[in-house]
Amino acid sequence: MTESRFIPNSYDDLPTSGKSSWRSPSNIALVKYWGKRENQIPANPSISFTLNSCFTTTLVSYEKLKEKQHQFSFDFLFEGSPKEEFKPKIQTFLSRIEVYLPFLKEYHLVIESSNSFPHSSGIASSASGMSALALCLMDIEKELNPTVTPNFFNQKASFLARLGSGSACRSIQGPLVQWGSYKGIENSSDFYGVTYPFKTHAVFQDFCDTVLLVDKGEKTVSSTVGHGLMHHHPFAEQRFQQAHTNLDTLKAIFRSGDLDGFIQVVESEALTLHAMMMTSTPYFILMKPNTLQIINKIWAFRRETKSHVCFTLDAGSNVHVLYPAAEKTVVLKFIKEELASHCQNGQFIEDQVGTGAIKLV
Ligand code: DP6
Repeated sequence: MTESRFIPNSYDDLPTSGKSSWRSPSNIALVKYWGKRENQIPANPSISFTLNSCFTTTLVSYEKLKEKQHQFSFDFLFEGSPKEEFKPKIQTFLSRIEVYLPFLKEYHLVIESSNSFPHSSGIASSASGMSALALCLMDIEKELNPTVTPNFFNQKASFLARLGSGSACRSIQGPLVQWGSYKGIENSSDFYGVTYPFKTHAVFQDFCDTVLLVDKGEKTVSSTVGHGLMHHHPFAEQRFQQAHTNLDTLKAIFRSGDLDGFIQVVESEALTLHAMMMTSTPYFILMKPNTLQIINKIWAFRRETKSHVCFTLDAGSNVHVLYPAAEKTVVLKFIKEELASHCQNGQFIEDQVGTGAIKLV
C-alpha cells in the first residue's frame, strides 16, 4: 500500500457549504509509540484501548470561497472562544494533509472544538482533537464522492489524523487499535490504525481506566521533542524491538484473559517509556513525586488484596489506573481513599474502554 491511494481523483462539483460534527475519544496506549521517522511514521508498532468519556467534540462549517486561495482560510474556536494560539498546529496539520484533501483551500472553515475533560488537565487532547477534525474533513470528501466505503472512510480518517498527531490515528475506532507495521497482524500499517483483528477475552471489552490528574500544568517537554530524542538514543533499537515482542506477548494474553501477564507488559511499557526519557540526551523526568507515590500504593494494594489493578503512564505525570470492570467497586474505593489525595485538587476522571468516534451532524 502506498499513500497515493489516499489522493482523490479530480473533482468538479464542490458543495457550496455544509457542516459536519464528530465526537472522537482519547486513547491510552498499552504498548507505547515513542520515536518516529519523517512524515509521522512510527519507529515501532503500538496498541491502545480507545476511551469513552474523554473526548473532543468538533464542528466544522465550510463555505466555498469565490476562488481558491493561496493560504488556508479558517477560524478556530475552543470552548466557544477564538483561540489564536492553537492555530499554528492546525495550520501545520492542514498543510500536511492538503495533498490528500486538495479542495481545502477552496473553502473557509470554521472549526469549533470542545473537550469533555477539564482544560489544562494534563490530558493530551491531540489524539481526540486531531481525530475529530480529520473525521469532519473526511465528511467533505464524502460529499464529493458518496461512493466512499465506510472502511475507506475510517482508514483515511485515521491516516489523516496520524499526520496531525501520531497517536490520534488510534482514536477513530475501538475498543483496541493497533498502529504500525507488525508481523503479527497482517493488515497492520505505519500509515493508519487498524482495529485489533483477533478475538479478545470478555474481560478486556469493558476494562476501566481512571485517570488520576497529578499535575495539571503544561508539560515541560512536548511529545514531539521526546520522539525526536529517540534518534541517536543508545537504547533505541532494543526498545523498538521490545515493542514487537510485547505485542507478541499481548496476543496470547488478549485471547486468554491472563490478567497477571497483562499487568506485567503494561506496567513495563509505561516504565520503559519513562526510562527512555531519563536516558536520552538531554534527559528529563516527567513523573512527579505523587506519580511515584501512586505507583507504590498500587503495588502495595495489589500485594495485599490480589486485585488486578495496574497503571500506565503517558508522556506526563498523570497516572492511568487500569482494572477489570468486575473490580470497579473495590478499586474506586481504593482510589478515593488512598490515591485521590495525590491528585491536584483531588481530581480524577472515570473512564473505560469505548468503541470509537461518533458522527453527530
Ligand atoms: C507517550 O501522538 O502525542 O502518548 O505524533 O508528535 O503528536 P506526535 O506525538 P503523540 O505521542 C504520544 C506518545 C505517547 C504514547 C502513545 O500514545 O503511544
